Amino acid sequence: GKTHKILLLPGDGIGPEVMAPVSALLSEMVSRKTIDLQVSEALIGGSAYDRTGHPLPADTVARALDSEAVLLAAVGGPKYDTLPYEHRPERALLGIREKLGAFANLRPAKLFPQLANASTLKPEVIRGLDLVVVRELTGGIYFGSPRGIVTEGGVRVGINTERYSEPEIERIARVAFNVARSRKKKVTSVDKANVLESSVLWREVVVRVAREFPDVTLEHMYVDNAAMQLVRNPGGFDVIVTGNIFGDILSDEASQLTGSIGMLASASVGGKTGLYEPIHGSAPDIAGKDIANPSAMFLSLAMLLDHSLGEPALARTLEKAVESVLEEGVRTRDIAEPGCTLVGCREMGERISRAFFRLLESL
Ligand code: NAD
Ligand code: IPM
Ligand code: MN
Repeated sequence: GKTHKILLLPGDGIGPEVMAPVSALLSEMVSRKTIDLQVSEALIGGSAYDRTGHPLPADTVARALDSEAVLLAAVGGPKYDTLPYEHRPERALLGIREKLGAFANLRPAKLFPQLANASTLKPEVIRGLDLVVVRELTGGIYFGSPRGIVTEGGVRVGINTERYSEPEIERIARVAFNVARSRKKKVTSVDKANVLESSVLWREVVVRVAREFPDVTLEHMYVDNAAMQLVRNPGGFDVIVTGNIFGDILSDEASQLTGSIGMLASASVGGKTGLYEPIHGSAPDIAGKDIANPSAMFLSLAMLLDHSLGEPALARTLEKAVESVLEEGVRTRDIAEPGCTLVGCREMGERISRAFFRLLESL
């Protein structure tokens, strides 16, 4: 086979902590010839700003574009919160998504049955939970102009613009319907069409695209109702398609249904190079303490193996490795329950890796 090139971006806060065991796993996969990989690392976020004066160095962008896939941990932190927008770590994240053309962010929320009691929701509410948020990632209010803080008649005004063009809506809707085809064949389009023109157009275009997918059921839901239905009856959802900011918010909500935000992975696709990232941030409140849950990082690697490298068997094995460690009752603090074996980030990561190679050998 050919050598796959992948780039790791550990970033800030718990980013490097959750990336370390994944990076170790990749090295071992290479030395055991599990897969032919060329893995390298680059700077992004606050740590890149500290070293180079820019949160998204040109070298990082060039190397990302030259890779088959990018695995990103997390960026941001209180130290950088007062920087001007262009220098903020979060700007780098938006920048790399845009540069890679990663307009479709797939955020699957699936309950590992072992975690049914680890969630803050009743087990009977979350049982069988299996949905995916398809979040538009390179448009909407995150990117719309005008934006900024201006002074009008002596009064300061903060401005952002929600905007979606027909082609942007069409392509994300198509991704969502295709994902639904491989699942339970239901799409819930989430918008605020009772108030926002961008949502009126969104709904109209989604309805039009739906005609290409007569085998898929389409429903519409206002975002406020969707937020409520997600905790009332999450089993009612299959694929949720929505804009950038609604998708950001609803996917954090969905993550808690699975027990912890430390469990949710994502794939950002659409361009030549796929971008894979946990949905969580740099968690400054727990950074440097070796207590973060690295599962979302491992599951993001699984999505990378599946979507970018065409290695679904390795991806499934890695998911099973996470599951088998949960099955043994091994937990990080965020998913701990009475009687479990409480471990840190590093040990959780080592156990997932060992389980991975054990499962691989038994195949
Ligand atoms: P966050 O996701 O970093 O943390 C929210 C809460 O979840 C915290 O209590 C944190 O301890 C916990 N948490 C997150 N990941 C965890 C993990 N793997 N294991 C255990 N617990 C975990 O969100 P926040 O606190 O709102 O933001 C912190 C910083 O991260 C900000 O600078 C924000 O801009 C940035 N951020 C970055 C990304 C990203 O890089 N993709 C995503 C979200 C937030
Ligand atoms: C995420 C994060 C980012 C987003 C921020 C940090 C820019 O919350 O990946 O979910 O809003 O997209
Ligand atoms: Mn978010």
